[in-house]
Amino acid sequence: MKDPKRYLVTSALPYANGPLHIGHIAGAYLPADIYVRYLRLKEKDVAFICGSDEHGVPITLRARNEGVSPQKIVDKYHEINKKAFKDLGIEFDIYHRTSDPLHHQTASDFFLTLYEKGEFIEKEEEQYYDEKEQQFLADRYIVGICPKCNYDNAYGDQCEQCGTSLSPKELIDPVSALSGNKPQLKKTRHWYLPLDKYQEQWLEDWIDSHRDDWKANVYGQCKSWLNQKLQPRAVTRDLEWGVPVPVKGTEGKVLYVWFDAPIGYISATKAWADAHGKDWEKYWKDKDTSLVHFIGKDNIVFHCLIFPSMLNAHGEYILSDNVPANEFLNLEGDKLSTSRNWAVWVNEFVKEFPDKIDVLRYTLAANFPEQKDNDFTWKDFQTRNNNELVAVMGNFVNRALVLTKKYFDGKVPECSELTDYDRDILSRAATIKEDLENSIENFKFREAVKIAMDMARLGNKYLADTEPWSLYERDIGRVQTILNVSLQITASLSIIIEPFLPFTAERLRNLLNISKLNWELAGKLDILGVGHEINKPKHLFQKIEDETVEKQVEKLKEARRKKEQEAQGIQPAKENVGFEDFSKLDIRVGEILEAERVPKTKKLMKLAIDTGLDQRTVVAGIAEQFNPEDIKGKQVSIAVNLEPKKIKGIQSQGMILMAEDSEGNLTFLSPGNETQKGAVVK
Ligand code: 2FM
Ligand code: ZN
Repeated sequence: MKDPKRYLVTSALPYANGPLHIGHIAGAYLPADIYVRYLRLKEKDVAFICGSDEHGVPITLRARNEGVSPQKIVDKYHEINKKAFKDLGIEFDIYHRTSDPLHHQTASDFFLTLYEKGEFIEKEEEQYYDEKEQQFLADRYIVGICPKCNYDNAYGDQCEQCGTSLSPKELIDPVSALSGNKPQLKKTRHWYLPLDKYQEQWLEDWIDSHRDDWKANVYGQCKSWLNQKLQPRAVTRDLEWGVPVPVKGTEGKVLYVWFDAPIGYISATKAWADAHGKDWEKYWKDKDTSLVHFIGKDNIVFHCLIFPSMLNAHGEYILSDNVPANEFLNLEGDKLSTSRNWAVWVNEFVKEFPDKIDVLRYTLAANFPEQKDNDFTWKDFQTRNNNELVAVMGNFVNRALVLTKKYFDGKVPECSELTDYDRDILSRAATIKEDLENSIENFKFREAVKIAMDMARLGNKYLADTEPWSLYERDIGRVQTILNVSLQITASLSIIIEPFLPFTAERLRNLLNISKLNWELAGKLDILGVGHEINKPKHLFQKIEDETVEKQVEKLKEARRKKEQEAQGIQPAKENVGFEDFSKLDIRVGEILEAERVPKTKKLMKLAIDTGLDQRTVVAGIAEQFNPEDIKGKQVSIAVNLEPKKIKGIQSQGMILMAEDSEGNLTFLSPGNETQKGAVVK
């Protein structure tokens, strides 16, 4: 849309059941922040909307596993994620949440409008029901044998072994993940959005109309869905957690999370408008608003086909102008994965590199997976910092400021006469600004960040070509002009890097002693007035050593290793201890003389042990797996210098060492051959 009156920019609402990693950031949040910061610099009317997506089955599953309420889970991650965005300089106008009553009301009203207009198909169908838990089972709650590959732990919606999409009824020998029982088929009523009808009536034409202005990956995915013919989609579920279906006699039913979540954009806009004296309806219902959704590729079908269908069925809303979805970011050549713990977590990055947020933003932007999946590596993070931010941008700015301080006491010198070369440089600066606008407005942020860096390259080249330091003795007038031009380029840089590197832009403004400037000034000659005094020069960026990034790669591998071991039931390794600490333990070979169960306990056994030093009593938690008769006479390892402890009224003097496997099976640590009692274990 050319020159809209206002912009409504949304980023996908992240699920509030886990922390954010750099893949999320590169997909839907940083590109949006860059776009919005640019619009704000152009003084456009823009609302930037995001918040937590707090409904859905995975949240209820997690709550169940941890024995807490879903609300407790989402409260925790809402705060964690809100802070992560703020720390990365991603500045939403509001970070709302879908458990908010305003959202429940908005989503409920939206459903009711469609219901009353007769848009939905109402259908009764058989679905799996868990008699013991007294509830219908969401697809994820059902496991069974995959009909394609025979994997015995496939979910009702997908087999994770062969990747096939499934429906619960296709599973062989289905079992409820809640109770472990065989679920029964039972009738239930749901409401469906007739996407097939919309495809025929208008949706396909609407998608076709965006063949040239939407990104190829987005348009392509939409067409592939349409080619397979859309089917009616259920927008309600049998579940307790969510927005209740606002129809009589539907207790125990909620709106499907993908029905209520995008309405979250609307409720968040309402909350923001309420707080700022704005009219939310202008942003959602006026044709002069450009609505742009930033998302990752897994959300395309919901934002390009289903949500527009909902909005259109409602009738009062505008449809999106663009949906610049990104593909996926990989990490060190491997898929980012929460379950395998292969990720750079935002909260950890922020803690470890509080002064390198812009380096991350820069590296991510330079690697945005705009057309295809792309890779983040720590080596690239280091190289971009050292060879581009330090060597090009930092170096140029520092030279311009230091020379001004040295020759002109920190005051912007006069610009007496421009040479043709100066004019050429300035016209190139103006071109950079225009090219940058073009790239950002077309959602080509990788290209844009490169163009922004060209401004610093231009400044560097200008200084290298004109060598003001060699002219000072001979031609001070020329030096004045060169530094004036250089400082103007520095000021331009402070404007155009703001969308990408907001923390650096702020530092640069402080060095230049200026406040935030309007975008249109970029590339101009008179941004800084003659005589304006700059502050003391300081470096904008610091070099990153090999060791720093190597440590990060190690950390990644270590985290993944731990996760794999956890999955195999292997306990994580403990921290190293010094030899001295280890040798404080006195472990001996002893012999079990007597053994009897401790009355009124299941686990405990009272043992009499000959330690070679003495005869003593030890209480051990082994009674579930061993008979007293069977272990008499056995040689075992015993820690003899542990502080004695009373257990069930019995003084226990030491501890028998046992090996415990991942299933909890116990084995005595006995010497391979019978040995002397009291022999030292070391
Ligand atoms: O994929 C996700 O993380 C979803 N929570 C995105 C929702 S976007 C919108 F519809 F709210
Ligand atoms: Zn399978």
